[in-house]
Amino acid sequence: LKSSNDILTVQSIAPYLRGKAADFFLDVRKTVTSTNTIAKELAAGGACEGTVIIATEQTEGRGRMGRSFYSPASGLYMSIILRPKLNLEDSLLITTGAAVAVAKAIENLTGRDVQIKWVNDLFMDGKKICGILTEASLNVENGGLEYAVLGIGINVCTKDFPENIKDIAGSIFTEKPKDEPITSILAANVLNNLADTLDNLTDKTYLEEYKKRSFLLGKDINVIKGSNTFTAKAIDIDDRARLIVKYPDSSTEALTSGEVSIRLSNQQDSKND
Ligand code: BTN
Repeated sequence: LKSSNDILTVQSIAPYLRGKAADFFLDVRKTVTSTNTIAKELAAGGACEGTVIIATEQTEGRGRMGRSFYSPASGLYMSIILRPKLNLEDSLLITTGAAVAVAKAIENLTGRDVQIKWVNDLFMDGKKICGILTEASLNVENGGLEYAVLGIGINVCTKDFPENIKDIAGSIFTEKPKDEPITSILAANVLNNLADTLDNLTDKTYLEEYKKRSFLLGKDINVIKGSNTFTAKAIDIDDRARLIVKYPDSSTEALTSGEVSIRLSNQQDSKND
């Protein structure tokens, strides 16, 4: 069997869905601009919770803070429309819950460990293999979320990354296993885990799983806010998924993801990670 066995369709994913994930509405496309952009349009038009846009390639994949997300055909890109009963400040729980759900799906499939870099990056063997982008729309009347779009991009088997990210980006497989529809299984496993995690977001038990995989804790880091960089130590992740950092003067700060970028002190800067 060849890797043509790995074509992604609703029919190829559905048999692997279980429990509540079987109730998701899947919309699988080949090449799109950005699954998040499409999902946001659909959500604004009233699409229901559990609508999932999946694509095998993106021409305008987006990352955090206006960055692009390299999205060739060797990856898996998906966006899920959520209508959670959360305040804007708790929307960080969606990203962190999703990070654990995706990490477990990848660990299960590959038998290898996945580390999480607060707040939305997944790493394997020191390389970024997945990014998560949650975009929310606020209901101005009650301050709650109108909807959230949870976007997940996984490098499944990308070999050649562009020059600017080739030292930091990696893939979960160097070769796809040939006898299995591996991308479909991965998509279903992610959705299965997400259905469980998203259902229990506010009980926060998954935060322990998150911390266990977090490789920033205990490390010296640079906190980048706009054009300012501050050195600090990452000391904890609190129950609202904020990163607690301690500065050299012993003051502490709870960081939300918004405008903050984190680097290990010895890590090189890059605009596309
Ligand atoms: C990041 O690393 O900064 C986040 C990357 C998020 C990428 C995913 S791929 C699916 C969805 N569609 C997008 O355009 N972005 C997200």
